[in-house]
Amino acid sequence: MKKTEFNFSYEAYKNAEELPVEDARLVEKAIEAAKNAYAPYSEFNVGAAVLLEDERILMGNNQENAAYPSGLCAERVALFYANANYPEQRVKAIAIVALKEGKMVPSVVTPCGNCRQAMLETETRFKKPIRIIMGSQNGFWVVDKAHYLLPLSFTGDAL
Ligand code: THU
Repeated sequence: MKKTEFNFSYEAYKNAEELPVEDARLVEKAIEAAKNAYAPYSEFNVGAAVLLEDERILMGNNQENAAYPSGLCAERVALFYANANYPEQRVKAIAIVALKEGKMVPSVVTPCGNCRQAMLETETRFKKPIRIIMGSQNGFWVVDKAHYLLPLSFTGDAL
């Protein structure tokens, strides 16, 4: 038997002012996106902002549905829009926040498993790590690549 450990680090920032300028700008856009979320069922309004290689920023938000599984998370709305419309552009970063009753939620919003898998696909596709900035009212966490959020992941290599 051989035991292997998987380690990763993340940065924690107390507030948006402490974030690197480029991250803070992306967070602003994610907040803007969250305001347009369609989330009448959960009332959990998520916004995501994607930064492309050419510095373009694209926004997405969660789109819910009366048939619950038909809805989609903010991260995948933003990422799929980016990949659909700018297929040549590498994705550099994504910021994620959530609003409840118009205010940032107290706990850091970490992406769901499906969104992690979608981010990993984009990371693999462009062979470029995606910086993930996750926000809350009480601070921000940042990881340098989607791969950190999905150890032992399934990729196209297995096919
Ligand atoms: N949601 C996102 O959009 N992103 C996340 O990272 C977590 C969850 C959405 C899905 C659903 O519309 C609502 O938040 C509650 O789960």
